[in-house]
Amino acid sequence: MAALCFNNEICHRGYYSQTTKMKGKQGWKAIAFFFVVMFCFGMCWFLHMEYYMQRSYPSVHKICIPGDAASKAEILISNYSRDHPVFLQLSDYFWVKNQSIYRLPYGTNGSEELLMKFLALTNRYHVPEEIKRLPCRRCVVVGNGHHLKNSSLGETINKYDVVIRLNNAPVHKYEKDVGSKTTMRLFYPESADFDPQLDNNPDTLLVLVPFKQLDIQWMKIILNNEKRVRKGFWKMPPIIWEVEPENIRILNPYYMAVTATQILKSKKMTPKPTTGMLAITFALHFCDTVHIAGFGYPALTNKKQPIHYYEKVTLKSMAVSGHNITLEAQAIKSLLQQRIISNLTYF
Ligand SMILES: *[C@@H]1O[C@H](CO)[C@@H](O)[C@H](O)[C@H]1NC(C)=O
Ligand SMILES: *[C@@H]1O[C@H](CO)[C@@H](O)[C@H](O)[C@H]1NC(C)=O
Ligand SMILES: *[C@@H]1O[C@H](CO)[C@@H](O)[C@H](O)[C@H]1NC(C)=O
Ligand SMILES: *[C@@H]1O[C@H](CO)[C@@H](O)[C@H](O)[C@H]1NC(C)=O
Ligand SMILES: *[C@@H]1O[C@H](CO)[C@@H](O)[C@H](O)[C@H]1NC(C)=O
Ligand SMILES: *[C@@H]1O[C@H](CO)[C@@H](O)[C@H](O)[C@H]1NC(C)=O
Repeated sequence: MAALCFNNEICHRGYYSQTTKMKGKQGWKAIAFFFVVMFCFGMCWFLHMEYYMQRSYPSVHKICIPGDAASKAEILISNYSRDHPVFLQLSDYFWVKNQSIYRLPYGTNGSEELLMKFLALTNRYHVPEEIKRLPCRRCVVVGNGHHLKNSSLGETINKYDVVIRLNNAPVHKYEKDVGSKTTMRLFYPESADFDPQLDNNPDTLLVLVPFKQLDIQWMKIILNNEKRVRKGFWKMPPIIWEVEPENIRILNPYYMAVTATQILKSKKMTPKPTTGMLAITFALHFCDTVHIAGFGYPALTNKKQPIHYYEKVTLKSMAVSGHNITLEAQAIKSLLQQRIISNLTYF
């Protein structure tokens, strides 16, 4: 009422003819009004800054909202569900065979016997306690892209709860740009030419992405020290690989199927997704916020530009990979535009 009266002549005159006690009351009202205005102004400024900071760069210090990634992803991914096991487990292949429609890399149909033997060897499938315990998971998927070179993002990357790395990307000697923390490393035999000790933490989960049965076979051979198999790989995988069986997991092929059918919307599930695209899809199911760094390739016309931060290979090497990086770039761009994920480096 006081606020409305301030500009009203009749109202004012009425009030001024009142006693001094009334005037005192009005003074208090004016002070209160002043504080309300100041508060609103402060809030506006705060919200503006918050908005500005979110736009300019995704800060890891930003509040993590539980279920944020899920609520955004379920708009994009039909039948989105977080209920699928993250890693394959023995119980799904021992007594009853898991009913999978697809064969590798999209499902386990036809690989049940091999999985039973392999999982009996490791029988580890749990997510580390310290991650399970978190009320909210902030994840960064670190791609192997050249944009990471001289980025000085190492410290930022290390602050995330979960750092997902891909294939043979080194950490040793690149800490300043890519950080040193590795919660999980997604790989397959042909991409396993990294030093498992040097480029990981002692508790890093080495997550095998099985593209074919031979990939599981290779892992079994390494762990069991069986006779090496050389045929059937598109590039010779390591023969000796110093790893602890308790650090090995097999990623549920479910995420590969979701990546192909839902994210890339590829017909008959070809081309096959890259490990990077798969990792983003996986993170959308596993995390509450998903940021990416070091994704993106140079322009197709740029033949000299290295594609990775740690080696000189160019886009030519991708030509025979059987992936479609144009299609994947479109998918990532769309995820960024819809603000389902955020980028730490230019995409
Ligand atoms: C989603 O689930 C429904 C019912 O189970 C099924 O009919 C449909 O094919 C599924 N869609 C996709 C894209 O998997
Ligand atoms: C195996 O099948 C069960 C029951 O249908 C299902 O709950 C579970 O998610 C499946 N496991 C995998 C790895 O797909
Ligand atoms: C597994 O694959 C076989 C052969 O392709 C097929 O006959 C069978 O129906 C598949 N299993 C499931 C559960 O779809
Ligand atoms: C990174 O920094 C080094 C040393 O300052 C410089 O020689 C190199 O050109 C830079 N590379 C990129 C990709 O910016
Ligand atoms: C890759 O995807 C793009 C965009 O969907 C498409 O135009 C192109 O034909 C695809 N390339 C191959 C080799 O399939
Ligand atoms: C993220 O990518 C967009 C282009 O897609 C770019 O404009 C923006 O600068 C990038 N963010 C960062 C932090 O590099």
